[in-house]
Amino acid sequence: MILLNLERNSQEPIFKQIYQQLKELMEDNTLKPGFRMPSTRALAERHGVNRSTVYKAYEELWAMGYLESRPGSYSTVRKRQKIATNGQKSKTGLISWGKLSSDAGQMLHQSYQKFKYKINDVSSDVINLASLELDPRLFPVQDFKRCINTVMAEQGAALLGYGERAGFKPLRKAIATRLRIHGISVNWEEILITNGSQNGIELLLKMLTVPGTPAAVEAPTYSNVLPLLRYYKTNIIEIPMKEDGMDLEYLQRVLENGSPKPAFVYTMPNFHNPTGISTDQAHREKLLSLCETYRVPILEDAFEEEMKYFGKVPLPIKSMDRRHLVIYLGTFSKVLFPGIRIGWIAAEKEIIQRLMAIKAFSDLTSNSLIQAALHEFCREGYYNLHVKRMHREYRKRMHTAITDLREHLGGFDKVSWTEPAGGYLIWLKLKDTNMDEAGLKQIFLQHGIILIPGTCFYSDAYSYPGSPSHVQEPSLHHFRISISTLNEKEIKQGISRLGSAIAKIYQQ
Ligand SMILES: Cc1ncc(COP(=O)(O)O)c(C=O)c1O
Repeated sequence: MILLNLERNSQEPIFKQIYQQLKELMEDNTLKPGFRMPSTRALAERHGVNRSTVYKAYEELWAMGYLESRPGSYSTVRKRQKIATNGQKSKTGLISWGKLSSDAGQMLHQSYQKFKYKINDVSSDVINLASLELDPRLFPVQDFKRCINTVMAEQGAALLGYGERAGFKPLRKAIATRLRIHGISVNWEEILITNGSQNGIELLLKMLTVPGTPAAVEAPTYSNVLPLLRYYKTNIIEIPMKEDGMDLEYLQRVLENGSPKPAFVYTMPNFHNPTGISTDQAHREKLLSLCETYRVPILEDAFEEEMKYFGKVPLPIKSMDRRHLVIYLGTFSKVLFPGIRIGWIAAEKEIIQRLMAIKAFSDLTSNSLIQAALHEFCREGYYNLHVKRMHREYRKRMHTAITDLREHLGGFDKVSWTEPAGGYLIWLKLKDTNMDEAGLKQIFLQHGIILIPGTCFYSDAYSYPGSPSHVQEPSLHHFRISISTLNEKEIKQGISRLGSAIAKIYQQ
């Protein structure tokens, strides 16, 4: 016979007490699997409670899998798997995820492990010349908060649905309007909102490639694009970067001889990552006309388009694109903040519609609330003000960086660096070192700075057995310097430490 101990004065409702006590009796096997439970009427009478109270407890036990019931018959106790609480989980699982992972998935995992900067492991007084995040001290937090509150108050529930597939229409319009400043004429239907431009790049790879498709990229190039190209098993064709941008004669040979032709040429005409180089008008025209001749799309990654704080940078290639060949990738990550994960693709309407379908099956949509807040941020004029402030700040910061590089490294004839026309990146070149890249990285760390080693930006850093190798002179090394997270004082300190590290490397 089941005897329960029900406390009528307890805060816990009676049905909960019945549920809990029966559950415990089942879990400790006092009520064994197959045991025929008393009817709800019998149990209710025995304990002087309402039948519906017992019924409610039984219902909960059924729902939680402790009881088996057949219509019109008694309920019996069911053998139920235990809830896996954290303390009860075994240390090793049954599945070896590494073995189960696809080769491509495994390659992404390894690339991530290899290159993630263990910044948390590095002591706090190390100066981070590696990160390309923005300086959070410049984030317009209060203005953005106001915008979120405003749109929530005005549009509320409408912003909490999935939203429009191609993005929040007013934001698409605002972006199309903003692009006119950069010489680009597109209408809002030619804009697709993405979760940052990284998402845009992946959507394009899904659309334009199959395994084996050649894809032309600058060498070096944006390091996060290389594992993706590998993931989609494209045949990466690296076009060397010269001092004035991608080697167009090399590209021409690739386009002439390539069979099949590359699916696209991926390029960063402004403040190229990692070299900081911006191409001139003639280079942009020549690249466009080459791609027109061979009918190869250009993926123009304009990640730092807004950061032309020194002026004198030509308009994007997209601004000359009369024949709908250029797919332009933009982002708010490098001027406002990256955490909102909002970027966009500007391209011919047909491409946008195709990409929209791919996005619908990848991540459905981008965050409507954030898009609406961002639109409000632009509409209120906060965005314009913010860009101006960023220009003022980074003009000073980059000026300091360049002046100090000249001061601290000017005396080393084997050391050179690019002097960018904006953005955040400087490419450092060290000739005739007796050390390998790992050794140099270590010396930098010993001097309290971290920089990204140049090889991360070449495809063979993400290679798999049998992939082609990028040949570099063993005594020539590059490092990427980023000033994006640092203020002037930190930049000065970082570059002074860099000077001491370089002196150590060349033992002067
Ligand atoms: C060249 C380049 N493109 C694209 C991105 C991706 O930026 P997001 O996805 O944040 O827009 C980055 C980020 O650092 C980048 O450096």
